[in-house]
Amino acid sequence: MGTLIAGGTVVTATDTYRGDVLIEDETISTIGSNIDRSKHDLVDASDAYVFPGGIDPHTHLDMPFGGTITADDFESGTRAAAMGGTTTIVDFALHTRGDSLKKALSTWHEKAAGKACIDYAFHLTIADGREETMNEIPKMIGEEGVNSFKVFMAYKHVLQVDDETIFKTLQACAAHGGLVQVHAENGDVIEVITKQARAAGKTEPKWHALTRPVECEGEATHRAIRLAEIAGAPLYVVHVSSAMAADAISDGRKRGLHIYGETCPQYLVCEFADYERPNFEGAKYVLSPPIRDKWNQDVLLRKLMNMELHSFGSDHCSFNLCGQKELGKDDFSKIPNGAPTIEDRLSILYEVGVNRRILGLNNFVALGCTNPAKLFGLFPRKGTIAVGSDADLVVWDPAESRTISHKTHHMNVDNSVFEGMTIKGRPRYVFSRGRKVADREKFTGEPGAGKFQKSERFFPVAL
Ligand code: URP
Ligand code: ZN
Ligand code: ZN
Repeated sequence: MGTLIAGGTVVTATDTYRGDVLIEDETISTIGSNIDRSKHDLVDASDAYVFPGGIDPHTHLDMPFGGTITADDFESGTRAAAMGGTTTIVDFALHTRGDSLKKALSTWHEKAAGKACIDYAFHLTIADGREETMNEIPKMIGEEGVNSFKVFMAYKHVLQVDDETIFKTLQACAAHGGLVQVHAENGDVIEVITKQARAAGKTEPKWHALTRPVECEGEATHRAIRLAEIAGAPLYVVHVSSAMAADAISDGRKRGLHIYGETCPQYLVCEFADYERPNFEGAKYVLSPPIRDKWNQDVLLRKLMNMELHSFGSDHCSFNLCGQKELGKDDFSKIPNGAPTIEDRLSILYEVGVNRRILGLNNFVALGCTNPAKLFGLFPRKGTIAVGSDADLVVWDPAESRTISHKTHHMNVDNSVFEGMTIKGRPRYVFSRGRKVADREKFTGEPGAGKFQKSERFFPVAL
């Protein structure tokens, strides 16, 4: 006896059809029409869509950053992800300069084990270009199941690395089947402008954005793509916030390069004016790259639509206003960077993309589920609805609405950058490897049930 999701509109990145999906044990065993209803637990999906579980390729849980630790750990973060329809996250294990990658990875395994409510994989960050570090990359890919490595061109004196390190990482990944991810902002220029702003007595949150001009993102994106081109390496540009950076990606792809771009929900609905909210509320929007002028939103959305941007990550990095963002009450540069977005990632994409008729349903699934699974070596186990794939499924009710609020969300944090937004459409049931983890407003999963998923070696994919 299995669980039969019956009569729903099944949506993958390529197809939309009416069908029954049978879950047996942890996987999808049969897809058909009119599978015998008497033999299984029945989930009537006749008025609903059936999507693959979302894959969030960009999360920061239990991460020390900005002089504090993110408000969500693997338990609260993955519970919130599940409530929003995400069934796998890929979190960043932070490498420390002078330490081994192995140590960073073990630390993150310890953070996740016994806590994660849904499945998870890891990226590693690269903090130095030492020979020892570069020599570990093949082992991380071949044995440890990590296929992607993030380098930071910003956060000077903290995470930023130089072009030499970036280039060596690109070469190592090109040689061994890794994908380099880049945080593309010119950290040296940002450091100079930030010091000048502070010296001039500028303290409010909006100065976070004003000291990180869009040209810093445009220049760094362009530079990273050229470095990848020289190294003959693929490149994934994380959290693209602006038309200028997205255009650099489009240009690289026109030259035939394997460049992929990710954007995030906050860049589709927040705008520069949010920094000017009274009573320090602007601090909620202090994240990097910063929120841009409103007109960028539509450019990013249309680039998602025509696959000039390929992946939709939350960049979930949650900090409370009270006690954490407050660290920068008198100095914008001390506000920890990041926002809570893991729970609402798919909802925002659905609302601004599907409900506004800019993205089709297949587009929505490709961006939120399938493409991240392909890029990060989890496909076809994850990210699609197919016989033999893990039974990670979302029964999505297109008729029911919900309003986002920090008072009702499941993230362990006192604010939301989407506060008050109403979304038409929401997860009704979420299944993670066949177990129901969300039943409307009720979390039905269990901490520790999520398992580490090894990523396969990266192979260029046409997206
Ligand atoms: O502000 C952000 N994005 N915080 C998380 C760290 C990063 O750069 O992804
Ligand atoms: Zn970043
Ligand atoms: Zn991030």
